[in-house]
Amino acid sequence: MRKTDTFLTRLDCCDDPSTQKRTPRRPLNDLSTFVVERLPTLLADTKAQELHDEAEQLASQADPTGRESALALLDAAMLQRAVLSVGGKPGPEIAGLVEHISGSIESIPGLTYEGVIHANPLQADPRVFGSGESARAELFFYDVHARIEQQLAIVISRLFQLLAADEGDTESTREAIAAAQDGFHVMQKGFRALMHDLSKDAFSSMRRYFSNDHVQGMSGPSALFSAGVYCLDSLVQGQTAKVRAFQREHKFLRQEYYPRTTAMGDGFVGITDMQKANSYVAQGRTISLHTQCSDHAGLSEDYAQLLHIGGQTRKMHMGVVKTFLPEVWTTTPTEVDGAKGTAGTSPKQIFDESIRMYDEEERRHRDSHTPSAHE
Ligand code: HEM
Repeated sequence: MRKTDTFLTRLDCCDDPSTQKRTPRRPLNDLSTFVVERLPTLLADTKAQELHDEAEQLASQADPTGRESALALLDAAMLQRAVLSVGGKPGPEIAGLVEHISGSIESIPGLTYEGVIHANPLQADPRVFGSGESARAELFFYDVHARIEQQLAIVISRLFQLLAADEGDTESTREAIAAAQDGFHVMQKGFRALMHDLSKDAFSSMRRYFSNDHVQGMSGPSALFSAGVYCLDSLVQGQTAKVRAFQREHKFLRQEYYPRTTAMGDGFVGITDMQKANSYVAQGRTISLHTQCSDHAGLSEDYAQLLHIGGQTRKMHMGVVKTFLPEVWTTTPTEVDGAKGTAGTSPKQIFDESIRMYDEEERRHRDSHTPSAHE
């Protein structure tokens, strides 16, 4: 892997997770240790029966009532997913353990975005499925997401603060625009890092663990469930068609997929922040509406520029998807991963829609602020 920029300094210096110095975080004791120390090797050797038997044995002895439930769920769900990924059928003990822990924290009974990116102690005692160079790539992939989310948490907390006033003064609106730009810039850095440093082979080999769980009918872990991106879009643009569609398709129907964290408390944007963003939108506390206030006409260009950066960021995301998942552009929704895309919408439609939304909003905004011949 090549160094991209300071965004990634830690991983560039870091070796294979199997040899790195660890500070153990093992909420399920032996089961957690097994996931950290032996799971990658058994997966590499496709030891299906051994994995199944170990999972049953370890799960039957695990105490799910301890602290760090989100990490405990990650460990149990990784073990369950590992059994599935080698063609096995998870037994009742591991399935029961996952069900029990997920029920206690109102999460889905499986691998989640929150688990893999936030609960996973990426610096102290990371969990990965792969081994050797694949493990390094996998950790890098998680780390890029975690860094984006950490920055988004700061941005979203700041935006809540800045947009709290009914119309906001010019200075706070200008600051909100700058904060939102920071959010998009950190996403861009992340997409760039993935494009430059992650090989397609490494992505394909880890991707099998993130697929949808057809047995239980659940979506796999995905940044699609980033509450940070949802809040950023909402607070920048307000109640656009896309945000409304997302509320309908995700917030109300699939709330349990989003992180149970908070930007201020956990440093990771979650479902309560999404609800807060929705209430801000409902009250007109968005950058879009603040800049439409006649007193802030001087901010028009700044807002148009923000929309431009937002659109650019979505185009970079689309570039990443085209690189790593070209089949998304050539197959119908039902063929992607054997399941429909986002609530029946194809991924391509989602990206087209989200880019169109930023482009149109930017154009609409620039047009409405271009001085006419009579002015
Ligand atoms: C190799 C890297 C990535 C790939 C291959 C990828 C792929 C995808 C795909 C295929 C979808 C559509 C999912 C569906 O409709 O079921 C999607 C959606 C989404 N992804 Fe990514 N993604 C990547 C990285 C990221 C990162 C780093 C973020 C930001 C943290 C992100 C945030 C999102 C969001 C918010 C959506 C929902 C649609 C939207 O708001 O645009 N993705 N991604």
